Amino acid sequence: MPVATVVIKSKDEIALMREAGRLNAEVRAILREAIAPGLTGRELDRIAKSEIKKRDAEPTFVGYGPGGRPPYPGAICFSVNDELVHGIPGDRPLHEGDIVSVDLGVTYRGWVSDAAFTSAVGKTTAEAEELLRVTEASLWAGIDQARAGNYLGDISAAIGAWGERADYGIIEEYGGHGVGREMHEPPHIQNFGKPGVGYRLKVGMVLALEPMFALGNKTTEEMADRWTVRMRDGSLSAHFEETIAITDDGPEVLTRIR
Ligand code: MF3
Ligand code: CO
Repeated sequence: MPVATVVIKSKDEIALMREAGRLNAEVRAILREAIAPGLTGRELDRIAKSEIKKRDAEPTFVGYGPGGRPPYPGAICFSVNDELVHGIPGDRPLHEGDIVSVDLGVTYRGWVSDAAFTSAVGKTTAEAEELLRVTEASLWAGIDQARAGNYLGDISAAIGAWGERADYGIIEEYGGHGVGREMHEPPHIQNFGKPGVGYRLKVGMVLALEPMFALGNKTTEEMADRWTVRMRDGSLSAHFEETIAITDDGPEVLTRIR
C-alpha cells in the first residue's frame, strides 16, 4: 500500500535510486531500438524481462494489482494509438504510423524507477509527430520546475501550459506521483493546475512526472481487462515519464543515461 506522507530520501538512498534509474534507462534504450512494424507487445515485454534480469534487477510492474485489479502480467505497459496508459502487452503487431507508449518499472535493491516514452512506428502523420513533441516538451518544462522552494502547482502548471497552448485534451484522471520503495507514493501530481499552490517542494523528494495529452477530448475509459486505459473518443494520445530527484543543485533526472 502507498505510504501516507511524502517520503524524503537521503543522499545515500538517492544514490541507490540513481542505479535503479540508470538500469531503467539502459533497458528503455534497448526497447526503443526494437520498435518497428510487426513487433508485438508480448515480444517487447519478453525483451524487457530478460534485459532486467541480466542486470540483477526486478520488473516492478509484474504482479502489481491494487484495488482488486488482476495482478499486472507485464514488465512493460504497451499502449498503442488511442490507448493512453497501462496497455497489457499482447499479440497484436505494430503497424507503420502507429504511436506506442512504452512504460517501464525497474526495481533495484528495493528501489523503484518508473519511466515511459511514446514513439512513432516508422513514419507517422505531422499531427502525431507534433503530439509527441509537445507532450515530451511539457515533461521537460515540468522537470525544470522541480526545485526546492517551488510548489507542486508550479510543476503541474508548467506541464499543463503546453497542453493548453496546443489545444490538446489534458488528461485529468491520471498523473504523476512520488517514487521510492513503492512505485506509487504521495504526492499525486496533476498535469494541469495553478502555479504557487499545493505542496512545497523539498530536497530529497523523488517524483515520477508523467504528462498525458490527447488530440481529442480528455475523457478516458478503462477496458474490460481492468488495466488498459483508452481515450473514449478514440483520439491519439501520448505519454512521457521520467523519475527525478530534487537535489541541492536542482532537478536530477534519474532515468536517463548520463
Ligand atoms: N507509470 C505507470 C504508473 O505510474 C506504471 C504503472 S504500470 C502497472 O501508473 F501496470 F504496474 F500498474
Ligand atoms: Co508512473
